Amino acid sequence: MFSAKTYIERRRRLQADVASGILLFLGNDDCGMNYADNTYHFRQDSTFLYFFGSDYAGLSAIIDIDNDREIIFGDELTIDHIVWMGTQPTIREKSLQVGVNLTMPLSSLKTYIDEAIRKGRKVHFLPPYRPEHQVKLFELTGVNPAEQASLASLDFIKAVVNQRNYKSDEEIVQIEDAVNISAEMHLHAMQMARPGMKEADIAAAVTSIALAREGNLSFPVIATINGQTLHNHYHGNTLKDGDMLLLDAGAENRMHYAGDLSSTIPVSKCFSDRQRSIYQIALNAHQSAVAALRPGVAFRDIHLLAVKAIVDGMKELGLMKGDATEAVNAGAHALFFQCGLGHMMGLDVHDMENLGEVWVGYNGEPKSTQFGLKSLRLARKLEPGFVLTIEPGVYFIPELIDMWKAEKRFEQFINYSEVEKYRDFGGLRNEEDFLITADGARRLGKHVPITMEDVEAMR
Ligand code: GLY
Ligand code: MN
Repeated sequence: MFSAKTYIERRRRLQADVASGILLFLGNDDCGMNYADNTYHFRQDSTFLYFFGSDYAGLSAIIDIDNDREIIFGDELTIDHIVWMGTQPTIREKSLQVGVNLTMPLSSLKTYIDEAIRKGRKVHFLPPYRPEHQVKLFELTGVNPAEQASLASLDFIKAVVNQRNYKSDEEIVQIEDAVNISAEMHLHAMQMARPGMKEADIAAAVTSIALAREGNLSFPVIATINGQTLHNHYHGNTLKDGDMLLLDAGAENRMHYAGDLSSTIPVSKCFSDRQRSIYQIALNAHQSAVAALRPGVAFRDIHLLAVKAIVDGMKELGLMKGDATEAVNAGAHALFFQCGLGHMMGLDVHDMENLGEVWVGYNGEPKSTQFGLKSLRLARKLEPGFVLTIEPGVYFIPELIDMWKAEKRFEQFINYSEVEKYRDFGGLRNEEDFLITADGARRLGKHVPITMEDVEAMR
């Protein structure tokens, strides 16, 4: 936990930004996996963590801006809870740690909100992402779950995003810690992966590192020989000579900040010639993107720079043809790169995705609907303090190739007969994390080999 001062200042600024009404924060609860007492790993809500720091289940809070009052709501532990799960600080002790002086039992939250609504005061809430919060919000405000996302407070969302997007120095220390743990996970996988192992062996090994550092994973591990499936969480395949293993894995550190790295390694000691040619294309895209990172540049343009590098490489290989810029504008590259170049990262691996990419990554501008570009999570002009990922990849998805070929889509840009030779290639991606600084960008965390020579040296 940071010092109380950090949380007090964050809340003060939030209060000033939203200006009036009541801000409602729903902390997360324990949630049964298959019965009530066998719970999923507890993860506090990131916005609750950011403003109230307290990493315990069953808390809610409000900032009553009009009356300049902050309250944490929670119930003291029962003796049964203490017997089975151990003790915790009292609600008051938890609250004082983050500079909140007023506490009330959970049952008072409804009374407080009812009273505010009766007086016609505005109750600001954020879009809920857990069903139990939809129910809670319905009970508290009477807003139907189906309408909660659209009736969430834009002023509140924008004010939260406008703080959390700019990482402070003490946050950068935490993020770098998470990236370092993530790097350890990747370095270990690079050294251990051998033909005959299962993808699950790699997933288990990297997970154990995250757990041993007293944190957790920042998202479920992707350790796959089928890297063409962008978020492939199946781990049942056996690694064999000639495969590539794509590892996309990150740690969440003790303070719940995320790291997010991807690497692609040959299961044999070296990449094949065919793998080298595609790997180099993704690496060129990666390096051109990294070289362009600085304040004032729109991330959409950096994405397009990386995309252009992929098209140039594909043209050289004979898989694409025609004018590269026209191909990019038309979206023809999305046969090979269907997603975005990167995303914001912080307390969430895709930071604040629950609050809406349009606010986090687009500053309110609408997103493109073009296949490929619609999956770009970040497009806005970069500013110092932003933390983001760079993760271009090249993916050969047989079903997509078949679909586009049958439709004759972008035939002026795509040589389908050449593409066919790669339909069983799979996919690859490399990913690093960056802080935007006053005059450029700084890669965060320990270096993980990314050039083919450096990767092969690890094998
Ligand atoms: N690391 C998973 C993702 O960025 O989507
Ligand atoms: Mn990522």
